[in-house]
Amino acid sequence: MEFERVVKKRKSVRNFKSKTPSWKDVLYAIDLANQGPFADNQNHLRYVIIENPSTIKSLAHLCEQTWIANTKMLVVVCSNDTFLENLYGERGRIYSRQQAGAAIQTLMLALTEKNINSCWVGSYSDELVREKLKIPQHIQIEAIIPLGFEAGKAKKPAKKSLERCLSWETWTQDHRPSMFEENLEDYTPKG
Ligand SMILES: Cc1cc2nc3c(=O)[nH]c(=O)nc-3n(C[C@H](O)[C@H](O)[C@H](O)COP(=O)(O)O)c2cc1C
Repeated sequence: MEFERVVKKRKSVRNFKSKTPSWKDVLYAIDLANQGPFADNQNHLRYVIIENPSTIKSLAHLCEQTWIANTKMLVVVCSNDTFLENLYGERGRIYSRQQAGAAIQTLMLALTEKNINSCWVGSYSDELVREKLKIPQHIQIEAIIPLGFEAGKAKKPAKKSLERCLSWETWTQDHRPSMFEENLEDYTPKG
């Protein structure tokens, strides 16, 4: 699938068919997520794949999001901050969050390419999820990703327009300075 199409096709899906995604497709997506940038190329992510329906139901409860219970597979993305913290101090913790976010996005795009829908879930009790999945105290739980095949057709919400998120040269300038030949009006986004 063309990159632009994959990016635009990805959307949060919370209503899934009973069909289970292929674990091989999920491993493909995780493998691509690991191709991303990592500070000092230190990748300390771990992906906990959950297929046991009873564990999925418990996690739905712990997230207080009942729709998760109807999912066939979850990927819980976890980080170990220790190495980056030792290298970079407090900034290492920030790097850890950033690179996990980048990896999660790649994961979701790769799943989209395989026609697997997903949703980024960030609302849960760290402590309760940690206890349920036997995740050690020093490991950060970055996100829970329920995945499957969409039942119905959820609408993807409108996204911010390009001109509302740009500054040029300094934070305070929202137009391309005249010293350049072209202006933003000359750029027409595709799609
Ligand atoms: C950090 C983060 C946490 C999120 N947590 C949840 C969540 O707990 N439950 C949920 O249903 N969606 C969650 N979402 C998904 C957003 O609601 C969704 O991305 C947003 O509404 C935009 O819709 P779209 O993904 O279809 O473009 C989360 C997204 C992010 C990036």
